[in-house]
Amino acid sequence: MAQRLLVTGGAGFIGSHVADRFLAEGWDVTVLDDLSSGREENIAPGVTFVRGDIGSPEAHALVRDGRFDVLCHLAAQIDVRRSVADPAYDATKNILGSLNLLEAVRTSGHATRVIFSSTGGALYGDFDPPPSGETNSKDPESPYGIAKLAVEYYLAYYGRVHKLDTVALRYGNVYGPRQDPHGEAGVVAIFCTRLRDGRALTVFGDGSQTRDYVYAGDVAGANFAAATTTLPERGRLDARAFNIGTGIETTVNTLATTLKQVSGSASAIEYAPARPGELARSALDTTKARAVLGWKPVVSLAEGLDNTYRYFAARRPEAAR
Ligand SMILES: NC(=O)c1ccc[n+]([C@@H]2O[C@H](COP(=O)([O-])OP(=O)(O)OC[C@H]3O[C@@H](n4cnc5c(N)ncnc54)[C@H](O)[C@@H]3O)[C@@H](O)[C@H]2O)c1
Repeated sequence: MAQRLLVTGGAGFIGSHVADRFLAEGWDVTVLDDLSSGREENIAPGVTFVRGDIGSPEAHALVRDGRFDVLCHLAAQIDVRRSVADPAYDATKNILGSLNLLEAVRTSGHATRVIFSSTGGALYGDFDPPPSGETNSKDPESPYGIAKLAVEYYLAYYGRVHKLDTVALRYGNVYGPRQDPHGEAGVVAIFCTRLRDGRALTVFGDGSQTRDYVYAGDVAGANFAAATTTLPERGRLDARAFNIGTGIETTVNTLATTLKQVSGSASAIEYAPARPGELARSALDTTKARAVLGWKPVVSLAEGLDNTYRYFAARRPEAAR
């Protein structure tokens, strides 16, 4: 019988790539999503779709009774600025919603492996030079990062005390087809749509700030590896946490010029004042994921940007924002 997967947030950007990957591997896939930012069109034929909030009694019952082998938990309020403006809303969705799922797994009596989508970028502070390893100090600069860290502590607790099979994947800056260009985080998606529409690219600051850009298909591969690999003993916070990135620091300037080349666009690159609170540099040390999960990114930045630009170029131009 096929293995059973539940993907929360499976109508969203990364979650839909995760669903696609497991489906291609022959798994029986169910998506739970409230469509607050996701789209039904991202859900592949053959996937069972349940519309609902992860914090609801219905979601609890689905997880408790669903006999899922793996739960990839991606559903989240992902807007860092919104978390700053309304930390209680962020905590309700991202902490309490996650707890509802963990409690459902605990009471199910079923050995469901829980794979949580955490963040590298918003977890490690600016104190140590990149690349950040899993055991680096955690100093989130936003309620969004605090909520991710809080859920990671719950995962470790449920692992140690209730013997739940939990794992946290800490992503770098994920990019690829289906990313929402209207969000705050999706610089690649924003640049792609602007280039497509012949509009200027805006770089905040001098463009020398770095991030670790990882392709969504590779992140889906990391979820699959985490689902199918023997994991280390449950223990302290970082025991079952894995950085998922490339380990490569890429500047926004490099991103902008590479995308300009890929697109063949004549759009200008404009500079605007730096945004307060932005990290200067960020990259993840992925040695542990390579060694333990047998995972490594396979899509280069050039190839990933090319795929992503093509995806956006094939979409209908939007009205000017
Ligand atoms: N995009 C990145 O670079 C990045 C980096 C680190 C971590 N992450 C994490 O990866 C996950 C997926 O992010 P994404 O970029 O694909 O965002 P996304 O907004 O495209 O996906 C989130 C999905 O969750 C759904 N959702 C939100 N709240 C929900 C709720 N309460 N109940 C049910 N469904 C809900 C949304 O409708 C959406 O489909 C998130 O947990 C995010 O924090 C993303």
